[in-house]
Amino acid sequence: MSEKIAIKNKALKVFITGATSGIGESLAHQYANQGATLGLVGRRLELLHKIKLNIKTPCEIYGVDVTDQKNLQKAANHFIKKYGAPDIVIANAGVSSGTLAGEKKDLHTFKRIVEINLFGVIHTFLPFIEIFKKQKSGQLVGIASVAGIRGLPGSGAYSTSKAALINYLESLRIEMKSFGIHVTTIAPGYIHTPMTKHNRYIMPFILDVDVAVSRFIKAIQNKRRFVIIPWQMNIASTIMKFLPASLWDFLAKGGPKKIRKMI
Ligand SMILES: NC(=O)c1ccc[n+]([C@@H]2O[C@H](COP(=O)([O-])OP(=O)(O)OC[C@H]3O[C@@H](n4cnc5c(N)ncnc54)[C@H](OP(=O)(O)O)[C@@H]3O)[C@@H](O)[C@H]2O)c1
Repeated sequence: MSEKIAIKNKALKVFITGATSGIGESLAHQYANQGATLGLVGRRLELLHKIKLNIKTPCEIYGVDVTDQKNLQKAANHFIKKYGAPDIVIANAGVSSGTLAGEKKDLHTFKRIVEINLFGVIHTFLPFIEIFKKQKSGQLVGIASVAGIRGLPGSGAYSTSKAALINYLESLRIEMKSFGIHVTTIAPGYIHTPMTKHNRYIMPFILDVDVAVSRFIKAIQNKRRFVIIPWQMNIASTIMKFLPASLWDFLAKGGPKKIRKMI
């Protein structure tokens, strides 16, 4: 079975943001193991160099901040010029921090989280959409979160950014359909990565990063429109989504809070 996937994916070209750690790093290694050509983006260029050393397939690295639209466009142009359009673009870069929605001091962090988690995804996709439209193929993948399903107290910025991202990806999916472009939204629950390392609360159904990413890759291969991983979180999120506001307020009030820090 795995040999079959490897052959099928031999010529794949995959462009991934947030590839310096966690989910992005695992995506890079798992796609490389399937023979894919890679374009990897992250701010910490030294980490990208280290990752590239362990990748045997063609791999371009770009030390770019996803909020920097011009340089991201340049990176995309460089990749397209060298290898042609990628088959899959995965907008995975993201940040998380506790914020208080009614606190002036948190405004800067709030804006920065939305800028990275929402506009960073838009910046990532835009350079590829024109060429995808011309060739009538291509897949755009956004890594959202179950935190985007309902407003979370103490994580307003993150929750807002992921809710907006889910809706943006849905609009995009419908707009892209007639051009033969697929859009996949992946909303993960908890995954062991540097992002969750310092959480001091119980994280139900938490997955090992490589296990989670192999499920992401399957969902991408199957061109899923919207998927919550793991399935237990899918059930929990569906219940969360339909709870009346009064009940949600009661349950969420005592929920876990992420540490507040400036970004
Ligand atoms: N872990 C979870 O439980 C979980 C759950 C739901 C959703 N997610 C989402 O999954 C994605 C990956 O997170 P992770 O868990 O793998 O966390 P992580 O290990 O902290 O990885 C985040 C990645 O995003 C990159 N990044 C952050 N800001 C960036 C920027 N401005 N420009 C370019 N790259 C940037 C980081 O690279 P540099 O710092 O080098 O730039 C890093 O490679 C995020 O979108 C996150 O919201 C994670």
